[in-house]
Amino acid sequence: MILVDREDAVAVVTVDRQDALNALDVATLTELRDRLRELAADDEVRVVILTGAGEKAFVAGADIKYMSGLDVDEAKAWGALGHEAGRLLETMPAPTIAAVNGFALGGGCELALACDIRYAATNAKLGQPEVNLGIIPGWGGTQRLARVCGLGVAKELIFTGRVVDAEEALRIGLVNAVHDPVLEKARETAALLASKSPIALRLMKELANRALGGDHAANLEAEGDTFGELFSSEDAREGLTAFVEKREPVFRGR
Ligand code: CAA
Repeated sequence: MILVDREDAVAVVTVDRQDALNALDVATLTELRDRLRELAADDEVRVVILTGAGEKAFVAGADIKYMSGLDVDEAKAWGALGHEAGRLLETMPAPTIAAVNGFALGGGCELALACDIRYAATNAKLGQPEVNLGIIPGWGGTQRLARVCGLGVAKELIFTGRVVDAEEALRIGLVNAVHDPVLEKARETAALLASKSPIALRLMKELANRALGGDHAANLEAEGDTFGELFSSEDAREGLTAFVEKREPVFRGR
């Protein structure tokens, strides 16, 4: 089951399948994809937090019992569904924050990697143990782990399947901070981001997503164009004027 809790402009999405450490079966992953689609299309949503129910797990991966019966075509469809959920987290206009409250393994680590920001509880354990099952990461892990931690670290982790604790995750850049309770830290950042201009955040996210791929010169040109275009927004006028007038800006998303 996927729970979506809306508090003002912040949506907290909780994966709740605690008898399997929040591992994702078809029903749960489909529901997650559907909820993320709705949140991506909702202008009122300024920040999305992803977490797991209970104390033990964020998401312990794709459901291994389900995967043990898949043929090639079914496995491809399963990979595509996970990619779709990850792409929504990565590309939706609102910033996305993973609050990793325990095991984030395989597909769980991959969903966290698709978020813009990751925070971990001190009991968090992250990794890509697929190699131990004779398979490979299939929801973005071969690509996004390298983008977040660098290729050398990523290869070691995906080749060995080694799981890292919160302290090491912080050291290798896999998470941005370690904090208990982790949801409190995520909510604090979410409130901060919700006070900023959603237009500026959306455009920064789009541009930053291009930073590690494509043509550098073209990406810089896109940044230059976007920077200029943004000066037609009320939020840019408000932010610049508020500084000059020595007051706090109020951003309205226009
Ligand atoms: N799929 C299905 N069920 C899972 C699961 C998973 N990924 N992870 C945990 N569970 C289930 C267990 O089978 C167990 O259920 P039963 O009581 O019915 O047997 C229940 O959750 C509790 O788990 P454990 O008893 O194993 O709990 P533990 O505290 O002893 O161990 C753990 C915790 C180390 C996380 C262990 O459960 C584990 O290794 N899980 C598998 C982690 C994994 O390999 N994830 C990657 C999956 S592959 C993938 O995700 C592919 C991809 O890229 C898309």
